[in-house]
Amino acid sequence: DFEKMNITKIKNSKNNKKLTMITAYDALFSKLFSEIADMILVGDSLNMSFAGKPDTLSATLDQMIYHTNAVCAGAPKAFVVLDMPFGSYINENQALENAAKVYAQTNAAAIKIEGGEDRAHIIEHLTKNSIAVMGHIGLMPQYVRSEGGYKVRGKSKEDEEQLIKDAIAVEKAGAFCIVVEGVMSDVAKKITEAVSIPIIGIGAGNVTDGQVLVWSDMLGFFEDFKPKFVRHYLNGAKLVKEAVNQYRSDVQDSSFPSKEEEY
Ligand code: KIV
Ligand code: NA
Repeated sequence: DFEKMNITKIKNSKNNKKLTMITAYDALFSKLFSEIADMILVGDSLNMSFAGKPDTLSATLDQMIYHTNAVCAGAPKAFVVLDMPFGSYINENQALENAAKVYAQTNAAAIKIEGGEDRAHIIEHLTKNSIAVMGHIGLMPQYVRSEGGYKVRGKSKEDEEQLIKDAIAVEKAGAFCIVVEGVMSDVAKKITEAVSIPIIGIGAGNVTDGQVLVWSDMLGFFEDFKPKFVRHYLNGAKLVKEAVNQYRSDVQDSSFPSKEEEY
């Protein structure tokens, strides 16, 4: 019962159907996720889990375009969102030039940019120029150095008010949906009720209009630590290690390849 998503269907799903988004960075996994997930996000989280960097800040637009083309090739029916990397939307004109490059060079349906009231003018310029924009407020990983770390948001009354203002500003600027990351769940509920576009949560409780998870987190491939908001749906790391150990042992005792696996 998979239905290919578009902007209208995503907006109409509010109060109707919960949206499932998952990240993907390559054709192999996007093929597995397509026709299941409503949206596939080529997140700049790939800079950490794929490129091994300490944070998302050094991801480049060309890198995001490369991965988005791989994801779109594996999942031609998926609604694919390209995460605009740090420094690629510093003012209206540069943001539009870069977003136009994304539309010219990939089949991404939309782009995602981090920021609330502070970036609403940029989102507005993009949406007025026919770019579909997904917002991202709350804990914003691209602000890690300027904020001095990753902090759960919405713990004070002022912060709660700021987050609601951010959501409303992003909606007014023309975004079709907003990721809300790392926010106290009671505040995420208020944000969800404050806007008429879907709120996709991550670390924001079950009160939002949908959820997003990083594929390598939810499939258990990242073993170093498990954030509280992640659920492991597969013991990926354990299964892979067991399989590779078995392969090595089969090589060592010459049971691989067998007669049937020979030419
Ligand atoms: O980069 C990413 O994977 C993201 C999601 C966690 C929302 O931005
Ligand atoms: Na991101």
